[in-house]
Amino acid sequence: MKNLFKAKKVKVFSPASVSNVGCGFDIFGFALHQPGDELVMRIVDKPGIHITKITGDEHHLPRDAKKNTAAVSLRAMMNALEPKFGVEMELHKKMPLGSGLGSSAASAVASVFALNVLLKKPFSKNDLLLFALEGEKIASGNIAHADNVAPCLYGGFTLVRGCNPPDVISIPVPDDLYCTIIHPHIEIKTEFARRILRSQIKLSDAVKQWGNAAALVVGLMKPDYELIKRSIEDYIIEPIRGSLIPNYFLLKETALKNNALGCSISGSGPSVFALSRSEKEAKLIGTEMKKVFTKIKLKSDTFISKINYEGPKIISISDNT
Ligand code: HSE
Repeated sequence: MKNLFKAKKVKVFSPASVSNVGCGFDIFGFALHQPGDELVMRIVDKPGIHITKITGDEHHLPRDAKKNTAAVSLRAMMNALEPKFGVEMELHKKMPLGSGLGSSAASAVASVFALNVLLKKPFSKNDLLLFALEGEKIASGNIAHADNVAPCLYGGFTLVRGCNPPDVISIPVPDDLYCTIIHPHIEIKTEFARRILRSQIKLSDAVKQWGNAAALVVGLMKPDYELIKRSIEDYIIEPIRGSLIPNYFLLKETALKNNALGCSISGSGPSVFALSRSEKEAKLIGTEMKKVFTKIKLKSDTFISKINYEGPKIISISDNT
């Protein structure tokens, strides 16, 4: 069995991500350097998937391998392998669930990435995307949307043109782009945030929205910062979900007043992201946004990150389990 494996134990990091990016509901996303999850995986003789430890969010996350996103995605991968070995996992959550930062996607990607590394990478990124999506479905009411899984797995800024078969396009972004994240200490379940959306939209809104989505891609690729600024505007989702985040519209106004290139809800919220062109601006935006929440006595965390082009990575790997 030894030859099957590159090693018997690996510890990996899997990043948080911002999805939707204002105008690209369910299609746009980008990966962050922080926060992110860590996962330790060991190959064991006992068949099956065994979650031995969860830290960081013990009270929320199920250890039951049928309900945990990392285990469900891993199960999909192991079904394709029919292995004679088993896997033990320790999941160290370094970001809250229901935060809008792709927490479930990060865990789903971490497990399939880790096993692929241990097995000398038999699967392509597209294969891993499909496995990870099985885990992600649990968090979003059985609907497969890959706008967190894709940037988490591929790194960078991604456009998901389709999931079946996977059609993920990487969009180059300017080097000086910084992202400020503010995460207020409330939880919004993705399933709920999707349920409240309308299933039909006005054609005139759709026209404005796809105009923005196309323009954002051009703005990022050129790069054209004024175009990026005009394009991060959401006519469809934000008007509905904005009301779930206390003081959201004031928060957005504050970010834009402080030179943000764009500001909107990260994924299904409650985290909010703002893009800017320097670390200094990104920090100032974070400080000013935090004041908006502090005024209403709502605790929050801020993160500053450039776009993470690497995606998941190995922290350590060895044969000693
Ligand atoms: N695109 C998804 C949504 C991301 O906004 O519902 C959350 O997982």
